[in-house]
Amino acid sequence: MHSGPIGIFDSGYGGLTVMKEIVQQLPQYNYIYLGDNARAPYGTRSFETVYRYTLECVEWFFKQGCPLVILACNTASAKALRSIQQNDLQHLNPNNRVLGVIRPTAEVIGQYSQTKNVGVLATAGTVQSGSYEIEITKFYPEANVYQQACPMWVPLIENNEHESAGADYFVKEYVDALLQQSNKIDTVLLGCTHYPLLHKKIKEQLPDAVQLLSQGKIVAESLADYLQRHPGIEERLSKGAERRFFTTDSVADFDKHAGLFYGAEVHSAHVELVN
Ligand code: DGL
Repeated sequence: MHSGPIGIFDSGYGGLTVMKEIVQQLPQYNYIYLGDNARAPYGTRSFETVYRYTLECVEWFFKQGCPLVILACNTASAKALRSIQQNDLQHLNPNNRVLGVIRPTAEVIGQYSQTKNVGVLATAGTVQSGSYEIEITKFYPEANVYQQACPMWVPLIENNEHESAGADYFVKEYVDALLQQSNKIDTVLLGCTHYPLLHKKIKEQLPDAVQLLSQGKIVAESLADYLQRHPGIEERLSKGAERRFFTTDSVADFDKHAGLFYGAEVHSAHVELVN
């Protein structure tokens, strides 16, 4: 069987915050990143649409020879992952694997929270799916999960307005709305891979005692553990420390903005998704 790269997917740039941590933790593998920028944001779209878009991207990764694809997008993990794992994988390629970012985060979040009262800031789609509440209470049945949709944050970030006064306004609005749900919240999760760009502004709006978590490191550690437990998949990953980047929209735009998320310069190529 041929070996191939790890595929990392997001609706746009956000997944790069996760990829950055993954390549740091596991530098030896080859990686392909795909941002579906032409159709971002996903966070306000229906289940059917997010599922269809995500499936098209997963098929593209499989055509590139990726044995393993990480949906580094909470919205896609919430709305498409289960159907892809349970229904599509067996037709597409039963030996390949598709993983998300919600389960690995839910698995460890109780280790961070003393009160087991956890706040989740996420897209409207992720919040509506209830995925975080379902997954966190599977691992920590005593936990209370409070969620707040932040529909203005991804557009602000994708349009490079996350340092602006407009961002201050919308950060305060959503953080206050979350904190109003309970005064016992001691841990707040950024449940969208775009949000680490607002980390500083969000932290400023939180009481000092409340800790703020991003997912990148958590997902990277979970992937390292997964690969140790699944040598059959690990053996099929190509190891040449290559990173390639693709976008469904403008390469010039992608290369201009991606560095902010990835922390290093990025040179991408365009992909036209045709099935
Ligand atoms: N970065 C994606 C996530 O983690 C969502 C961005 C979008 O709305 O497209 O949920």
